[in-house]
Amino acid sequence: MENPEQLKDALLADVAAAGDLDSLEQLRVSALGRKGRITDLMKGLGALDPDERRATGQALNQVKEAVQSAIDARKADLEDAALDARLVDEAVDVTLPVDIGGQGRLHPISQTLDEVIAIFGEMGFSVAEGPDIEDDFHNFEALNIPPEHPARQMHDTFYLPEKSDASRMVLRTHTSPVQIRTMENEEPPIRIIAPGRTYRCDSDLTHTPMFHQVEGLVVDKTSHMGHLKGCLIEFCRAYFEVGDVPVRFRPSYFPFTEPSAEVDIGCSRDRDSIKIGAGDDWLEILGCGMVHPNVLRAGGIDPDEYQGFAFGMGLERIAMLKYGIPDLRTFFEADLRWLRHYGFVPMEVPTMLRGLTT
Ligand code: PHE
Repeated sequence: MENPEQLKDALLADVAAAGDLDSLEQLRVSALGRKGRITDLMKGLGALDPDERRATGQALNQVKEAVQSAIDARKADLEDAALDARLVDEAVDVTLPVDIGGQGRLHPISQTLDEVIAIFGEMGFSVAEGPDIEDDFHNFEALNIPPEHPARQMHDTFYLPEKSDASRMVLRTHTSPVQIRTMENEEPPIRIIAPGRTYRCDSDLTHTPMFHQVEGLVVDKTSHMGHLKGCLIEFCRAYFEVGDVPVRFRPSYFPFTEPSAEVDIGCSRDRDSIKIGAGDDWLEILGCGMVHPNVLRAGGIDPDEYQGFAFGMGLERIAMLKYGIPDLRTFFEADLRWLRHYGFVPMEVPTMLRGLTT
C-alpha cells in the first residue's frame, strides 16, 4: 500500500501548484472523490489486520483532513486573486472625458408639453389624466354629442370590436372626455389641464392617426368668457414668448361649449416660413368656449350653481409653430437625425411632469 506520508506530501505539493480553480477541482476529485486516491486506500483498509488497520486508518484520516484544508485554503486564495484581477480589469477611470455624442434628446412634443404644463401650472392649473381607450359615454354622449349627432362624423373615430352588449369602445378622438372624468371625481372649483394622446382615422400632410392634445377645464361659480380670454391670451404670450402677440377669438361651434370660439394668432407667412406675432395673416391654434350646461349635468354638476370654460389645443401644431418644424409626420418617424436636429438637450432642473411621472 502507498505510504500515507508520501501521498500527503505529493498531494499537498500538487495543491500548492494548482494555478486555477478548475485544476484545483480536478485535483480534489482525483484525491478525495469517490474513486480518488485517498478513497481507494480507505477501501483497502478492510484487507489489513486489525492493528495495522487502526494505524493506517488514522494516518489516512489525517492525510484526508490535511489535503481537504489545503484545498480549501488554496481555493480561497485563487478566488481572491480572481476577484482582484476582475476589479483591475473592469476599473472605470472616472477622470476620462464624457462622451457627449451619446446624450439623448427630448422629443419636441415632450419639450412643448413641459412648457405648456409650466405655464398653466403658474396659473394654478393641475394636471389630470384619462384613458386612451374610452367608452362612448365619455368620448361623445356626455359631451353633448348624442348617437346621431353630425359632429360624430367630424371625428373619424377608431372603433374597437363590438362587446357582448353591442357597445363599442373607441380610441378617444379628443382629450375632452377627461373633462367629464374630472367632474365625476372632483368637486368644484376645478382647474385642470389634461394632456394626452388622441386618435383619428386620418393621415395626410397635416394629419397623423395619433396626435396630442391639451385640454383645459375651469369650473367654479364665477368664471366667465372674460376669464377664458384673459387666460388664453396670457398663455399665447408666455408660450410664444412674444409680449404683444395678436390673438383673435373667432366665433365657432362645438357641441360641448356655448358660446364657442376658435383662437387664431397673428403671423406672417412667406413661401416656406411662418413668423409668429408679425404681419397680417392668422393661424388657428385652439378651440374653446363656456362649458355647455348639458356637459356640466353629465359630469354631475348643477349648471344653475356652477359655470366655467374649456379649451383644447393640438400640441404638434403649437410645437411646429414655435420651433419651425415644417412637416407633422416627421414627429412620429423616429428618425434619430431629425431628433438630433429638433430635439432638446434636457435641462438640469426637473420639470413638473417628469417630476411627477418618474
Ligand atoms: N375637443 C375639441 C377638438 O378636439 C377642442 C375643444 C376642447 C373645443 C374644449 C372646445 C372646448 O377639436
